Amino acid sequence: MATASNLRIDGDRLWDSIMEMAKIGPGVAGGNNRQTLTDEDAEGRALFRRWCEAEGLEMGVDRMGTMFARREGADPDALPVMVGSHLDTQPTGGKYDGVLGVLAGLEIVRTLNERKIETKHPIVVVNWTNEEGTRFAPAMLASGVFAGVHELDWAYDRRDANGKTFGDELARIGWKGEEPVGARKMKAMFELHIEQGPILEDEGIDIGVVTHGQGLKWLQVTLTGRESHTGSTPMPKRINAGLGMARITQLVDEIAWSHAPHAVGAVGHCDVHPNSRNIIPGKCVFTIDFRSPDKAVITDMAARLEEGAKRIAEEIGLKLEIEEVGAFDPVTFDEGCVKAIRDAAEKLGYSHRTIVSGAGHDACWINRVAPTAMVMCPCVDGLSHNEAEEIKKEWSTAGAEVLFHAVVETAGVVG
Ligand code: GLV
Ligand code: MN
Ligand code: MN
Repeated sequence: MATASNLRIDGDRLWDSIMEMAKIGPGVAGGNNRQTLTDEDAEGRALFRRWCEAEGLEMGVDRMGTMFARREGADPDALPVMVGSHLDTQPTGGKYDGVLGVLAGLEIVRTLNERKIETKHPIVVVNWTNEEGTRFAPAMLASGVFAGVHELDWAYDRRDANGKTFGDELARIGWKGEEPVGARKMKAMFELHIEQGPILEDEGIDIGVVTHGQGLKWLQVTLTGRESHTGSTPMPKRINAGLGMARITQLVDEIAWSHAPHAVGAVGHCDVHPNSRNIIPGKCVFTIDFRSPDKAVITDMAARLEEGAKRIAEEIGLKLEIEEVGAFDPVTFDEGCVKAIRDAAEKLGYSHRTIVSGAGHDACWINRVAPTAMVMCPCVDGLSHNEAEEIKKEWSTAGAEVLFHAVVETAGVVG
């Protein structure tokens, strides 16, 4: 029977496609810099489209540039099963974060085509635009618009560090589609992703069955002081924004530790003005990322940060502004989709465990509008958002096989 446990995807073919994609937008240390809406992103999209067309898939593109590659089902009116992730990367990203989930979706289609297997429900492989949120905050921007969390025009107005807008850049690279965002309905969505943490590798487990995702709050802090000479300004006369940023950075760490092990927090992006070695910084703009699986903890961390930052700014004499630039609540994935993943791992004989996603994923937003769940595979040393991010071929094969069986089981095999 077509969905029997001996039906396997081609792990070598999947791996070769990941390596082929990684040639586009190489980083400086073996990883990738294929940030959203850059020329490299456009090149990666074009390659993915060529691969989809070679499999006879019909490509649709929505107004956020999200790509939907559809394999028809026996019942064209049946809602499709979606499978995918993202092809954009961090500026110093790895080869697998996101890419694995999209190309594993393609590998499912390749396997079905090769074996001439027909499913009742169509299968749609998705590449969500701007999952990473580095260039344009917040992360998971297109899936957020799709799920009705953000307005389309608000998303178009997001600006990168050079003042370019998301909408203009999307048009510039030629991927502003016609489809209304969120118009496509679906039966379910599945996303395969590397764990980006150490649990599966440490425990020697093949598959993470993701039941929950932690929530987050992203804050952007602006501290304004006064630029002055680092040599001639007496210590009592300084209004040093850099000092305020350092103290708040320390506070973020303390707050996160106070909730350990159920919370994390860090300052990621910092801009120091004017960034000269002999000028006391007059202005600092920096971002804070707080996360926890418990919403009350996130609320507490943000409140304590605000209170502490106010105190620090007052002590130094700085003007303080705090803006929320991203947020989502902890997520509980759909029981039926989670079961499909667990059953697939069991049937294929892979070791598996329940896991909570530490990172944000497009699946977290899509879960609001359709039954959704995620599969995870280990990554070496739990390292991600680093060019040295690495996985083993057999890990990606196992993850894609579990994904395959969960998707095909949900889509229903004809005959
Ligand atoms: C997305 O990569 C995130 O920040 O979790
Ligand atoms: Mn990702
Ligand atoms: Mn990422």
